[in-house]
Amino acid sequence: MDKKQIYEGKAKVLFEGPEEGQIIQYFKDDATAFNKQKFDVIEGKGVLNNIISAYMMEFFSKNGIENHFIERLNKREQLVKKVEIVPVEVVLRNYAAGTLVKRYGLEDGIKLSRPLIEFCYKSDEHGDPLLSEEHILIFNFATQDEIDMMKKTTLIINQILGDLFDKIGIILGDFKVEFGRVTENGSTRLILADEMSPDNCRLWDKETLEIMDKDRFRKGLGSLTEFYREVAVRLGLEKELEE
Ligand SMILES: Nc1ncnc2c1ncn2[C@@H]1O[C@H](COP(=O)(O)OP(=O)(O)OP(=O)(O)O)[C@@H](O)[C@H]1O
Ligand SMILES: [Mg+2]
Repeated sequence: MDKKQIYEGKAKVLFEGPEEGQIIQYFKDDATAFNKQKFDVIEGKGVLNNIISAYMMEFFSKNGIENHFIERLNKREQLVKKVEIVPVEVVLRNYAAGTLVKRYGLEDGIKLSRPLIEFCYKSDEHGDPLLSEEHILIFNFATQDEIDMMKKTTLIINQILGDLFDKIGIILGDFKVEFGRVTENGSTRLILADEMSPDNCRLWDKETLEIMDKDRFRKGLGSLTEFYREVAVRLGLEKELEE
């Protein structure tokens, strides 16, 4: 059956789901960085991200973090609840890296005194600029309650994800999440959406400090899928990888 395409992003395609209020995320092999200045197709990346993101979302659900995930359909697709995405990327940083280093001249890789939450405007056209809470409120991107929920949830995600990765010998340097609104039985609430994969985290091997995330692509280090696969294997997902 031909599914109706709703949207094509940089890493995923969205299709209409089988029921009202559901969509299908199709994970592509496309890799982009530096606001699409760098582009490549990395065979197998989409499959790995779909498997890892499905696992992560289930892990979050078990830990009381409500999210859009319903079920993984196949190697590249998962069924999720359709949400109205808040146009704000929530970034949590435990260590200085990437744009934080570029913007403020911090030393790459230093541990921050405590987790730092940043908000960015989800707009490639404008280069995803940093947003203050005032911007978010005045531009009507989210309410104060929603901002508070996003901050609180992101801190909890950092705690449980940091512990999970620590147990498998990986440091969680930073990550990005997105939230969206769902309306059910007449009331609207915010839930975690999008994806959680090595495409939107910084992950470093605890022993060797080897980079295990999308920085392999940004920095042109190669072997990206080899490391994403290693993350999946350490998470205990060998069986899913063999399908
Ligand atoms: N449950 C959901 N309901 C609706 N939209 C979603 C959901 N989960 C993720 N999205 C949106 O799907 C889009 C496609 O994902 P992808 O990662 O390819 O986008 P992107 O290119 O990174 O971002 P964008 O297209 O927004 O600039 C994103 O805009 C994301 O916010
Ligand atoms: Mg994206």
